[in-house]
This record gives sequence, structure tokens and C-alpha cells, in this order.
Amino acid sequence: MINITNTQELDNPTSDLEIVRRYLDQVKPPKELSKSESSKLEAQLRELMQTKNARLIAHYYSDSSLQDLADDTGGFVGDSLEMARFGRESDADILVVAGVRFMGESAKILSPNKKVLMPTLDATCSLDIACPIETFASFCDEHPDRTVVVYANTSAAVKARSDWIVTSSIALDVVEYLSDEGQKILWAPDKHLGAYIKKTTDADMLLWDAACVVHEEFKARGIKDMLAIYPDAAVLAHPESTDAVLELADVIGSTTQIINEAKRLPNRDIIVATDQGIFHKLQQQNPDKSFIIAPTAGNSAACKSCAHCPWMAMNSFQSMYSSLLQETNEVLVESTLAEQAMKPLQRMLDFAAKNQLRVKGRA
Ligand code: 13P
Ligand code: SF4
Repeated sequence: MINITNTQELDNPTSDLEIVRRYLDQVKPPKELSKSESSKLEAQLRELMQTKNARLIAHYYSDSSLQDLADDTGGFVGDSLEMARFGRESDADILVVAGVRFMGESAKILSPNKKVLMPTLDATCSLDIACPIETFASFCDEHPDRTVVVYANTSAAVKARSDWIVTSSIALDVVEYLSDEGQKILWAPDKHLGAYIKKTTDADMLLWDAACVVHEEFKARGIKDMLAIYPDAAVLAHPESTDAVLELADVIGSTTQIINEAKRLPNRDIIVATDQGIFHKLQQQNPDKSFIIAPTAGNSAACKSCAHCPWMAMNSFQSMYSSLLQETNEVLVESTLAEQAMKPLQRMLDFAAKNQLRVKGRA
């Protein structure tokens, strides 16, 4: 167990959980727009993107309006691995990343010559917050015999200290490969994903102690209750969920893997343990199926994030418009750090390209 004892932004935090809670208290959701305000902004955004040769890269958890705009304007909607790939391959001058901070940073590291903007630079991630570079670097220094494998949901500085970066779609395959090579792993920061990989691969893994505030709230008991009502439903879960939830899952995978499996499975009812932003694509691609969000509150418990990432929710037409118009909220990564972080990022992309067929989610 590691207690995080320092951040630059907050005074005297005492634990990773407290730091995350205090960040959450600062999050302000965007103002709701009327239909006509939204259509007007959308038209202005389309024009701006064309004039500036900008492309929108949106995560599945971002607002459905942003996902549709990305799809409609030659941009991209995907999981964090695919977002990173698309940004680099795109011929745009400006990439607008609608997601959370680490996604913008990965895009910038992979495309140093493009301008990378984000609707807001305040959109962080509980995993990133709970893995500050100073404590993380000391942890790595204490275990020089271990290969450092870091989840993409981290700062550029943490990435720069790693040997490998992985996203949820590829983490299992990379660790399996390293373990087969006889390597011992230091894993950070998501303890649930780490525990799942350790259990599945039997790799020798030392785990950092942090969690996703959204996925940690899904409740196994609630899913069991739901299965009693929908006995033929399939359960699809993101591996940031707890072990008890993953034990009930028919498929465990990244956001894209969940979407692919939802299409492939014959079940008409599907219980989904991940951020509810994904329902937009799930429903678009499977109009005849019924998707049910996994319960987040057990008996008499209350959820904090309620199956929607508060930081992803900060992305909106309004924040995107002001960022793109004035070219503010530019993501900048210091060049030495970017060069160092590029190596493990590239390692992941090369591995993904080489093992394309294996990266497909576990059923
Ligand atoms: P994916 O890589 O599966 O899109 O996950 C990113 C994330 O932040 C999940 O919470
Ligand atoms: Fe981070 Fe969880 Fe939000 Fe994903 S859903 S960005 S892991 S806080």
C-alpha cells in the first residue's frame, strides 16, 4: 500500500483517495445547451475545423455530440490506444483531443509537430492523480530488477520513467509476453487491472495502489441482482473494475473490445460495467439490443461518479469551441520528457502492430 503524500496542486493531502476526492469536488459539469444553441455551435465548429485543418479525436466516454462530430468530420472515436494511433497518422495541422489529459499528452508525444488542443486541460484521471512522479520514481528505484510497465492513464513524466506503456486493450498481451521472457514486472497505477493481469497470466507483478473512481464503484451484488432479472444477459466489463465484478463478466476488455464483443455476441440484453458514455456507440451499432448499465450503488450505498467519468464530462461543444477558436488549451510536453516517453510508447505501438490478431479482449 502506498500513500501518496505530495502533489503540486493541493495543500497537505493525506492519501490518494483524499486527493482524488478533492479533485472531484472541483469539477464543474458544462452548462446544458438548448437544441438551437447546440446546432449553432456545431455549425461554427465544423467551419473552424475546416478552415484550420483540425481533426477531432474523441474517446467513447465523451459526450455523444462530440463523438458524432468526430465521426462526421473525418476525425475519430475510439479507445485510448486507437486515439494515439490515429493522431499520429492524421494529416491534420491541429488535433483536438476530447478525452482526459493523458490522451492529449500521448497525442502530443506521438505528433510533436502538430498542435494538440483539448477542450479543457483540467480533465484529469484518478489514476494519473494517484501516481505522482516523485513517489513513483522512488518506487521504481527501490526495485531495479523489475521491468516497469505503466498504464497509459499517467502523466508524461511517469511514462518517461517506464520501460513499457500499455493501454487496457494490450496490457494482458504485453505482460504475458514479458513474463514468458522471464521478466519480473513493476506495474502502475491501476491495482484492479494489475490484479486481473496477474491472476490471468501468473506473472510476477508488484502492484501500485490506485484505482479508477468510475470502475471501482460497480457492484458485483448489483450485477447478480440484475442477472436474476435478465438471466440471459451477457456481462461485459472493463478491466479497471474490481475482481468481484470481473468474476461475473463474460467478456473483459477495453472500450473498443467491449463494443466489438457486444456486436458479436448473440445476447439481446447486455449488462455493461464501464462508463455510460459508451452506450452511444453501443446503441448506434446495435439498435436491436438492449444495454443496461451495471449498478454502481449497493444496498444503502451512494455512488460518487455514478458510472460517468467527471473529467470526461468536462468536454463539450462550448469548451471545444473556445479552445479551437483561440487555439488555447494547447497540450505541451517538455522535449526531453517527450523523447523519453516516446520510447515506451513506440514499443507499445510496435507490439500492437506485430500482434494485431491477438489484441482482441478475453472471453
Ligand atoms: P480504454 O483504453 O479502454 O479506452 O480505457 C481508457 C480509460 O480511461 C478507461 O477508463
Ligand atoms: Fe481515469 Fe477512470 Fe476517468 Fe478512465 S474513467 S479517465 S480511468 S477516472
